[in-house]
Amino acid sequence: MRPALQKFPADFGHPPRVLAFWRRLVRAALATRTDTPFFLCSAEPIAEALVELQELAGAAQPPIRHWLSCKTQPLAPLLRWWRRQGRPIEVVSEFEYRAARHEGFVTENILINGPAKHRWLPRVAAPGLRVNFDSLRELKELLPLAKQLQWHVGLRLRTSLEHDPEHPEFPTQFGFEAAEAMAALKALRRADLKVEALHFHLRTNVPGAAVYEEAIAEAHSFCVAANWWPAFLDCGGGLPPRHTFSPGGKAFAAEFSLPALRKVFRRWLPRFQGLRELWLENGRFVSARSGVLVVTVLDVKERAGLRQLICDGGRTLNALVSNWEEHGLISLPPRSGPQVLTAVHGPTCMAFDQLTRRPLARSLRPGDRLIWLEAGAYHLPWETQFSHGRAAVFWHEGDNLSVARSAGEFADWWGRGR
Ligand SMILES: Cc1ncc(COP(=O)(O)O)c(C=O)c1O
Repeated sequence: MRPALQKFPADFGHPPRVLAFWRRLVRAALATRTDTPFFLCSAEPIAEALVELQELAGAAQPPIRHWLSCKTQPLAPLLRWWRRQGRPIEVVSEFEYRAARHEGFVTENILINGPAKHRWLPRVAAPGLRVNFDSLRELKELLPLAKQLQWHVGLRLRTSLEHDPEHPEFPTQFGFEAAEAMAALKALRRADLKVEALHFHLRTNVPGAAVYEEAIAEAHSFCVAANWWPAFLDCGGGLPPRHTFSPGGKAFAAEFSLPALRKVFRRWLPRFQGLRELWLENGRFVSARSGVLVVTVLDVKERAGLRQLICDGGRTLNALVSNWEEHGLISLPPRSGPQVLTAVHGPTCMAFDQLTRRPLARSLRPGDRLIWLEAGAYHLPWETQFSHGRAAVFWHEGDNLSVARSAGEFADWWGRGR
């Protein structure tokens, strides 16, 4: 249950330059398009995240390769920007794979993850693909292709740290149990295929470095038992982004420290014989900060001690993550003065459509723009068209602000497949 009253710092932990950056960009976007909702995404914060991730590197350990988690923010100009940095991409579906190809990623720079790939991978199979297998059935079905096309293969191990976040007593559905992974190794060896990578992905918003340590220790035990060592250890994603909060108001990253994770890597990576690279696939940490959602207040109601702002975008259409997360919310123009408990609603006919409920300035009024921060991860992939069209998306890079996707129109909503 979402508590009714929460206090967030006015800057949500951001330095003032970050809020000024977004206000300036949103003003620039509004100068070209007054209609909301829209997303505004920028390459700059992604570049900053990559600089921060350099904290994880250490002279005494193998180099780290950062894969772009495509599912987190499947946005064409982002893919192009990332590729131009010479960086690789991780995909988990046929459409993501095709998007990566469309945006010019070469085979060796695409890592294929995800469950049940035997459904779609044969349709796009090519020589030399990098594939992390997820199950024995998938492996059996894809093995002839893998052998014929000389794929670079890996195994996803389900460590005991991976469970349903809402019901931790249940495991996730991903990867091999250790005994299955052992059988997979044997099958791949029999087929003369070298297994290059061992992969795990813990979950999202991993609270601290100690969880990675336990998982890496399990992966290590597996390698000892199998008498096999991967060239690449792929620790997946899961780093919590800063400035996102639980419904109780606790920052997800409150206890996470990159230097502590570096120490974990320093302790464990030398124990993996012949390890050539550490791979990471962080989604949220890299891209949450790179986007905002902009909505307009259309109507105001007051009832039972609650002020309600009805806006043209919100949870149902644009921000499903607001079901689990609280993010910074600022306005244009900035409004100050006394605060009252305020619920921010989207336009759909669903009580569920509530972006947040927290104290906000009473001076907010119809026509004001609200800027929902940290909207660069898991907002676009979870968008809906519930009674309305999709939001436009702006992309900012250098001095350039362009439209990455125009707003959905009636024909998009109604036209196809009716
Ligand atoms: C295999 C894999 N890698 C990476 C990620 C990215 O996770 P996050 O955004 O928490 O870093 C996910 C997310 O579900 C995933 O399933």
